[in-house]
Amino acid sequence: MFVSDCLKVNEKGHLTIGGCDTVELAKTYGTPVYVMDETTIRNACRAYKKSFDMYYGGNGMALFASKALNCLEICRIIKEEGLGLDVVSGGELYTALKAGFPAEKIHFHGNNKTSDEIRMALEAKVGRIVLDNLYELETVNQIAGEMGISADVSMRIKPGIDAHTHSFIRTGQIDSKFGFALETGEAMEAVKKVISYPHIILKEVHCHIGSQIFDIDPFVHAAEVMMDFIQDIRKQTGVTIECLNLGGGFGIQYTKEDTPKSYDSYMEKVSQAVKSKAKEYQLPIPYIYLEPGRSIVGEAGITLYRVGGIKEIPNIRTYVSVDGGMTDNPRYALYKSGYTCLIANKAAQPAAYKVTVAGKCCESGDLIQEDTMIAQPEVGDILAVLSTGAYNYSMSSNYNRIPKPPIVMIKEGQPREIVRRQSYEDLIRNDI
Ligand code: LLP
Repeated sequence: MFVSDCLKVNEKGHLTIGGCDTVELAKTYGTPVYVMDETTIRNACRAYKKSFDMYYGGNGMALFASKALNCLEICRIIKEEGLGLDVVSGGELYTALKAGFPAEKIHFHGNNKTSDEIRMALEAKVGRIVLDNLYELETVNQIAGEMGISADVSMRIKPGIDAHTHSFIRTGQIDSKFGFALETGEAMEAVKKVISYPHIILKEVHCHIGSQIFDIDPFVHAAEVMMDFIQDIRKQTGVTIECLNLGGGFGIQYTKEDTPKSYDSYMEKVSQAVKSKAKEYQLPIPYIYLEPGRSIVGEAGITLYRVGGIKEIPNIRTYVSVDGGMTDNPRYALYKSGYTCLIANKAAQPAAYKVTVAGKCCESGDLIQEDTMIAQPEVGDILAVLSTGAYNYSMSSNYNRIPKPPIVMIKEGQPREIVRRQSYEDLIRNDI
């Protein structure tokens, strides 16, 4: 019935998540609140692991792209599940290290890492620094040299693949701020430089073609293009690249229109493509990394709000205002992202009312969803927005000095807070 198996309706007609009544959760923890189901997160991690085992002889690893959701407890769960981690900033790295995440399983990304971040990553002995540009190459080489070490690096390549997704989250094409372009020869020139630097060891090439992608073909195409590139590198330089990182981007279900494929069908096709290219070129079969973010945590999370003012504008629309908004979920304002909304305390009632769900910020664009169907709304109802586990908490802000909601994690029917609600005191903590 709903986008995720962890959601059900109980005998009271209330939405439940992981067996907990959302109306009770809203009472206990207040609103707005992010609620997540731990089993769903762990199952997603295991599904990636299983498909690596099944289709690629276990010769690979998923790195959770922690930009989708990063906090101590999530890092601990990912660690327990045996995945690696993709971090893109000193802050994400700091959180992972504080959670005891093994540094060798961390890949450090970003298109403009600062010298301090690079030093921090090298001191922590992260598994890879993913080079985005030549300026970064100079910096990594210099800092590694000062420390008397060599840095294991990957290189982010733009494979020239146009994935059909929102232009803001599409990254594989030439006109992107990320990485080295393949078609122009920039990437090969850069490889030649990278392998000539004394404190750098090129272990891997990387690509990420975009996010919220449903087609498997662009991923397969990217894998083939990258294998061609690995062959080219060997021909032109004699260096054999051991690892191939194919990024993240697997789509999830936000609304009924979204039709995600299984990881198995992805892994099957991608591993076939990689193996057949390896055979064709007589290259060793590379170790593969994937970097799923959204597909690990997205469907595991929901947000609960309390309905406040309801404004009917005759012949135009009905605004249902909730006690959060673009501060806890900026994705509609940014990308016009689709979401499924429902009234949690009327989850069994037909969704017969067309409404626009608005937030509480002083901004007309502060909407969660336009023209969406829900049960008849009343002041005090609990409104649930589904599939908010990825890129909601991690993209939240304190605009209008609105405190960030807590994250409540459910495990075996038991809720626990893994991130506290911000207090007003927290909001002025750094003010002088
Ligand atoms: N690897 C790299 C290098 C990435 O840039 C990204 C996402 C991922 C992996 C993870 O992609 P995923 O599996 O989550 O699709 N804020 C946007 C999404 C931006 C994605 C940025 N990079 C949103 O809310 O849709």
